[in-house]
Amino acid sequence: MAQMLDHGDSKSRPLFRRDKAAVTPSSAPDLVSEADQEFFHREGYLVLPSLIDSDFNTRLIDELDELVLHRQAKDHRMIVSYEQMGLLTSHPPIIERLKALIGPRFAMHHIHSARHEAGNGGVNWHQDYEQFPQTNRSHIMVHVFYYLNGLNGTVGDLLVLPRSQNLVVPNGGIGLFGTHDLPGSLVVDDLPPGSAIIVHSALWHARRPKPGGEDHARYFIDVSYCQHGVLWPAYPRIAEINTTALEAGLGREGDYDFLYDSDQFFERRPLDESFKEHNQGSIALQMKGVGVDG
Ligand SMILES: [Fe+2]
Repeated sequence: MAQMLDHGDSKSRPLFRRDKAAVTPSSAPDLVSEADQEFFHREGYLVLPSLIDSDFNTRLIDELDELVLHRQAKDHRMIVSYEQMGLLTSHPPIIERLKALIGPRFAMHHIHSARHEAGNGGVNWHQDYEQFPQTNRSHIMVHVFYYLNGLNGTVGDLLVLPRSQNLVVPNGGIGLFGTHDLPGSLVVDDLPPGSAIIVHSALWHARRPKPGGEDHARYFIDVSYCQHGVLWPAYPRIAEINTTALEAGLGREGDYDFLYDSDQFFERRPLDESFKEHNQGSIALQMKGVGVDG
């Protein structure tokens, strides 16, 4: 197991090199304050240092190590079938905050878990909003980035471009910017263990490779959720994953069953060919001004 980072008084240090105002104190109330809600909707992200208590955090790290061993042995399991990571998908301190931000109802899109080792190549600028094609931001999808052993300027830094969530671009359409700073972009390279960042999925972000971290792999989990109101593109196994989650009790005696609702999604692939065939010129003309309610 990797050692936990000892950040000492890191909670009082700025999380961003250039924007102290972005820090949300870990003593924040369970529900998101009005100011934080306003900040999230304007800037597109919200930082929650040390959100996960240290016992749960240690169990998650241990379990992520197990998952890495399983993957090395080509034993690929659904992440919701792992007890601790499954529970993370309905972690009440996050779900209650999300209710305030994008509620009352939303559904889990996915959970990804990874251990980024020293020398990790990073990820170019991109955004992760699920929509095909990308045309609007009428409803909100969020990713919750969990940094189980924090960020300390090694392995990879998180880059975000605040307020970019409403600039409609294809998911990889900004990849040509690599992992360079962009005008107004921020670097997140100092977070205590157990921290979470809620980001609007359409926020432009990147992971910049950094040297070091040979004895501090980066424990990273992201869980994403889609606001009710429209159907969202999903992957073929979502129904199986949701059934597994509900059977494992991740709905927490029914309170959070709504997170595992496959009816909020559609499978995109069967529509791709037909869409490519008809996608010429302006989509508005193809729709003839008729919306889903028309
Ligand atoms: Fe991403």
